[in-house]
Amino acid sequence: MADYIYLLENRLSANQKDALEKIRAVVRERGMTLFLVGGAVRDLTAGTSVRDLDVAVQGNALKLKKDIQKVGGTFSGEYEPTQSLFFDFPGSVRVEISSTLGVTYPKPAKPVYKPANILEDLRRRDFTANAMALSLNEGSWGLLMDPLNGVADIENRELRLVSNYGFIEDPSRLIRAARLSARLGWQLEERTRARYETAKEEDYIANLPAWYRGYELEEIAYEEDGLRVLRHLENEGWMKALMPAWGPKVVNATGLDDLRDKVGVLQLQGIFPDASAIAFPLLTAKLPPKDVATLKHSFPRQAFVEAIDGMEAQGKTLATEFTGKSAAAPSAAWKLLHAAKPEAVLQMVFAAKSGSSVQNKFKAFTAEWPQARLKIPYALMLEMRITPDLPGYDELVEKLFFELMDGKLSTVEEMKAYLEPYSPPAPPPPVNLRRPRAAKKESKRAKKAAPVVEEAADELIASGDVGIEIADENLATEINEAAPEPVKAASAKKATPAEAKAAEHAPAKKAATTPAPSKKPALPATPAKKAAPAPPAKAAAKKPAPAPAKKAPAKPEAKKPVPAPAKKAAVPAKKAAPVKHAAAKKPAPPAKKAVPAKKPVAHKATKPAPKPAKKAPAKKAPAKKR
Ligand code: CTP
Repeated sequence: MADYIYLLENRLSANQKDALEKIRAVVRERGMTLFLVGGAVRDLTAGTSVRDLDVAVQGNALKLKKDIQKVGGTFSGEYEPTQSLFFDFPGSVRVEISSTLGVTYPKPAKPVYKPANILEDLRRRDFTANAMALSLNEGSWGLLMDPLNGVADIENRELRLVSNYGFIEDPSRLIRAARLSARLGWQLEERTRARYETAKEEDYIANLPAWYRGYELEEIAYEEDGLRVLRHLENEGWMKALMPAWGPKVVNATGLDDLRDKVGVLQLQGIFPDASAIAFPLLTAKLPPKDVATLKHSFPRQAFVEAIDGMEAQGKTLATEFTGKSAAAPSAAWKLLHAAKPEAVLQMVFAAKSGSSVQNKFKAFTAEWPQARLKIPYALMLEMRITPDLPGYDELVEKLFFELMDGKLSTVEEMKAYLEPYSPPAPPPPVNLRRPRAAKKESKRAKKAAPVVEEAADELIASGDVGIEIADENLATEINEAAPEPVKAASAKKATPAEAKAAEHAPAKKAATTPAPSKKPALPATPAKKAAPAPPAKAAAKKPAPAPAKKAPAKPEAKKPVPAPAKKAAVPAKKAAPVKHAAAKKPAPPAKKAVPAKKPVAHKATKPAPKPAKKAPAKKAPAKKR
């Protein structure tokens, strides 16, 4: 089953969620309970976009009118029998708030309502797919109520009447069945289809109440593809009952296509208009003005009529601003369009004549100005330590976008200068526990000791008795300090096999934990002033910090083939050279041959076997010299 908490969080638009939150606060204040009902739950379940919000409150919804207005809902109409209020919330969010009611029909199409709980309320609805509710109350938020198994019908893409008498009781459901199946592409469930045909034959539609007639006419105007719905309603014969003069013949189809294209273009720019008020004149393009007036008059939400009538003026006002001085800079025009009512933007764009200044500027808005996003210097920002985790990062990116859009930053230098104030200071250099002087001294000593160490090591290797104790303490220390890890391990008196193995891997570990400065390649590109505390990577690599130099000096390590895991890519070229040189008189042992050096280390720790000396060619070379 769908996770409705997730769907409520992720499938409603920000404006829809905002509207629901405000209504929730009002309803909670009144001690009432609130449910999302009707098409919104159906659309959430079906995975289609939620067009408008229907909510039901347990209690009299009419009493909420003022409170809802206070929290930002613009009142657009009401219907007393079902205690329904209609509001528009910011972002073109249409909301219907009704009371939870039960209903009886003493006569066809003459309902009598009475207060009821949510479950009873669901049973008075048209189709099972529309008879589900989601709790919006604390403690049961997101709980689905589906007493008629609407989920199954949604899965089957079927419209099934809740009541066998649904079409007699409320003939507007005939129109709703046709409208919803045209929009959703769903079928009428078999028995519902049979009842639908009977209703047609027996002309139930003759009993359609005037209010519902107007309601359904208005709903056509909200359809995303009004022309398709009009065609279907006409084919089904329902337009005769609704308004004979209105139908597909009076529609400006090309205009609607164009409008749909413009909506798509705006959506790509993050502007989401509700096109219904602009579509209405196109849907009624060839309808005589008198009929248009009658049609509008029948709409229960007269605020919609005002929106239709005010659209042209809104578009013109915006066009004047858009082409005026205050929006001369691309960034200013960009901000203007994003701050304007999306419907006004659509109207302006839709009404713009070909080749007009509005159209040309709008072309730049959609095609040229967004290119500035591609020029945002993310790599440079990274080098300057301006990363997404910094507070204000998003705002900076946005500012940059506008600067680039206005052509203010065209060179790298200009960008650097612009970003400089936002660049945080470089992190402190890594802590070096050894005092520089001492380290220098050590480095010198290590260098001096190198030949001695080499000789000593060679002797050890040649004798095969690598496990011997070295009497000269200083020499022992020097060997230990200058020699790579495996040698140290070899000189350990009681090295267990495990320890020896660990020692084998020591050089590799060292390579992995190279001094910090050389690990920061992003820093060098930072301005010199800022980079000063942290030496650039190259410099750090050329001059290793004193401490590591002492522990793993490049030269001795290179000359000693024993520990060098030659296979490892980390082995510098220098290392290979001396190996070759030492073995020059012999058939040159490839660097790889030095690898078995691992073995001698293990042997050193276990028994003083002479084998390794034979295996390692580099060991033989010094022996020959002698
Ligand atoms: N309803 C009904 N009978 C009607 C009209 C409405 O039972 N004659 C109920 C349905 O449960 C419906 C809900 O009221 O789902 C809201 O009605 P409306 O907003 O007109 O339709 P939606 O189903 O929400 O469809 P749409 O996507 O067109 O808004």
